[in-house]
Amino acid sequence: MVTVQATPAQAIGHALELQGVSRRFGGLRAVEDVSLSLAPGERRAIIGPNGAGKTTLFNLIAGDLRPTSGTIRFYGSDITRLPPHERIRLGIARTYQTPLVFPRLSVLENLYLAARGVRPWRMSLRRPRANDAEMVKARQLAEQVGLGHAIHALAGALAHGQQRQLELGMALASNPRLLLLDEPAAGLSPAERELLTGLLLGLDAAMTILLVEHDMDVAFRVARQVTVMHEGRVIAQGTPGEVSADEVVQQVYLGARHG
Ligand SMILES: Nc1ncnc2c1ncn2[C@@H]1O[C@H](COP(=O)(O)OP(=O)(O)O)[C@@H](O)[C@H]1O
Ligand SMILES: [Mg+2]
Repeated sequence: MVTVQATPAQAIGHALELQGVSRRFGGLRAVEDVSLSLAPGERRAIIGPNGAGKTTLFNLIAGDLRPTSGTIRFYGSDITRLPPHERIRLGIARTYQTPLVFPRLSVLENLYLAARGVRPWRMSLRRPRANDAEMVKARQLAEQVGLGHAIHALAGALAHGQQRQLELGMALASNPRLLLLDEPAAGLSPAERELLTGLLLGLDAAMTILLVEHDMDVAFRVARQVTVMHEGRVIAQGTPGEVSADEVVQQVYLGARHG
């Protein structure tokens, strides 16, 4: 087990705190000097054009990548160097820009494995045994994400929106305190988007959520605070109204559209 270092008291008020976090890929500064803090239960959206560094930032927080420099704290503990499974154990869960599920297993089997701590990117299959605590949990999760009617469907045969719902259920299986959602509404129909937004709004109010989302309607309904990234940096932060009125933000989005 990895020991987690205690940190000064002033940091403990935050669920998540990034200080000067940077990540380079060769000469490319994918994430550059990002500082960010989220209060427990806060819902924050990260927006920005393609290539702004949003997914890289998620990878740094979830532990799929290590920062080149900077510090990441979770409830006051320095997690900068912890491997992903240790972060999951502490209560950090994520989804991916492209849904990551076991396509040849059923909805229930996917949720069951997630409840057992098995993830599609870390295989170690155990035979499901019905009626144990994890199976009960799997059924609850299916209901919670609106898939109670489809528990025996193969994950790979689900509509895209239902795969997003399933992935959300799998992320919730570890009872996270921090949920990282990477473009959960991408590719969804208006009806699917509405359903997903409702699911997100219905999550436990104590859960902290960091959401990358291109759909402003979804982002602004779920989040009270918005952080705008561009070329790896945070260029604006505020309420949805404040960031949409921000001149630099408008220029970046215009530039992205015309460039
Ligand atoms: N593993 C990687 N290796 C090299 N470059 C990467 C890698 N991951 C992301 N990048 C680059 O980092 C920049 C930010 O990418 P990304 O974080 O995916 O942006 P966003 O999610 O905001 O669209 C892009 O220029 C991208 O090509
Ligand atoms: Mg991305």
